[in-house]
Amino acid sequence: MTAPKGSKTLRLGVAGLGTVGGGLLKLIARQDELRLPGRLVVTAVSARNKSRNRGVDISKLRWVDDPVELATADDVDVVVELIGGSDGPAKLTVEAALKAGKPVITANKALIAEHGIEMAELAEKHNAHLLFEAAVAGAIPIVRAIRNSLSGVVVQRVSGILNGTCNYILSEMLRTGAAYESVLAEAQRLGYAESDPYLDVSGMDAAHKVLILASIAFGARPDFSQVQVEGVDQIEAMDISLANKFDYRIKLVAEAFRAKDGVRCRVAPVLVQKEHPLAQVNGPLNAVVVEGEPVGRLTFTGPGAGAGPTAAAVMGDLARLFEGPATPPLGKPAKELAALITAAKGTADQGSFFIGAKLADKPGVFAALTEELAEAGVSIDKLIQESAGDTGAAPVAIMTHPCPRASVEKALAKVAELKITADTPRLLRIETRA
Ligand SMILES: NC(=O)c1ccc[n+]([C@@H]2O[C@H](COP(=O)([O-])OP(=O)(O)OC[C@H]3O[C@@H](n4cnc5c(N)ncnc54)[C@H](OP(=O)(O)O)[C@@H]3O)[C@@H](O)[C@H]2O)c1
Repeated sequence: MTAPKGSKTLRLGVAGLGTVGGGLLKLIARQDELRLPGRLVVTAVSARNKSRNRGVDISKLRWVDDPVELATADDVDVVVELIGGSDGPAKLTVEAALKAGKPVITANKALIAEHGIEMAELAEKHNAHLLFEAAVAGAIPIVRAIRNSLSGVVVQRVSGILNGTCNYILSEMLRTGAAYESVLAEAQRLGYAESDPYLDVSGMDAAHKVLILASIAFGARPDFSQVQVEGVDQIEAMDISLANKFDYRIKLVAEAFRAKDGVRCRVAPVLVQKEHPLAQVNGPLNAVVVEGEPVGRLTFTGPGAGAGPTAAAVMGDLARLFEGPATPPLGKPAKELAALITAAKGTADQGSFFIGAKLADKPGVFAALTEELAEAGVSIDKLIQESAGDTGAAPVAIMTHPCPRASVEKALAKVAELKITADTPRLLRIETRA
């Protein structure tokens, strides 16, 4: 099918032809099945290795070794950055394109989270689009939803499951009872986890994404140094199984919410009730819950990564380019964003907590643990102690009544001195809101 007479054609330069870049070329080849207001033509591409088989024919596309050169080429109207990384070639490519006044579409959450202000200022200065729907939650159109469709909502909280790798690992540990290491290895075999899973399992990837959402939802300057990050790599199968017995799921929850001293932004494994919307999200799926006035709670769920879903999000941004001039990338103009993102200070954390530990199979150790908790002023709501069997260590899970986190930490520090546990106990927050 040819383009309708008069429809606009955009010439794309695609930098990065890996999972997402390859997926995008395949989707562009099917554009007649889509509902774009104009035509997209890829004129130039860039990646590291020209001869690598990408499962898509690039022989008729102009190859450019240097993505920065691609960004400034005369036959490129729009730059699609799919290289990745907060610095290096991805940043240089985006900067070069924006300085040339060219629209940039990127899936790069690390770049936007760590250099968002700089990039937004550059885009605004040169009246260039900078769009990054694919950077957060893959196919879920959450960036545009918060920035545009929900601009009439006073947002109180944005929370979600923003890393499919971690969600797959936690879901599989619950389903199979297998240990973290073996489930991670399976996730890598299935392509749900990178060979270097650090960014995912450390919580960093989810932290990048939630900071981007926080910036748009609260009109806040993205400040990655203020995000509190904890990953899933310390979680034991026994924690998941005992939380399940309390009718809770353990999920890696990323959240940003209004607090007394600003906007808190944090990522950590959290116990959520089985009925909670985030507890229902399993496997590699992502979910985002937006809460605010006067709409209440909105929940979005869908595939958060992968070639097809991410390319579809990039495609949505490309379609936006036909709609009109650029608007500020982070919603409000960069200079109007407030320094709101703030980490909790000292003992500010208050709530109910879950403690998972393996206690040495000796008389008196359980009493010693509960005495230390009582001494620190922590009162126990529920507890489960299982048999040590022939392992020599008895799994124990405790849910506390509301108390300062610092009190639980103090008790656990004393427990560590007593050397009565076979491992370092896990201390997780319990989300008490249904
Ligand atoms: N994968 C996902 O599901 C997903 C989801 C959401 C967002 N994202 C984001 O999308 C971006 C791309 O991710 P990906 O998974 O597609 O990564 P990837 O598979 O590792 O692909 C990266 C691409 O960048 C190219 N590249 C690396 N260094 C380069 C350089 N110096 N000059 C030119 N090209 C260079 C690589 O070239 P070679 O192929 O020649 O090595 C490769 O084609 C990242 O920002 C990522 O965070 C990914």
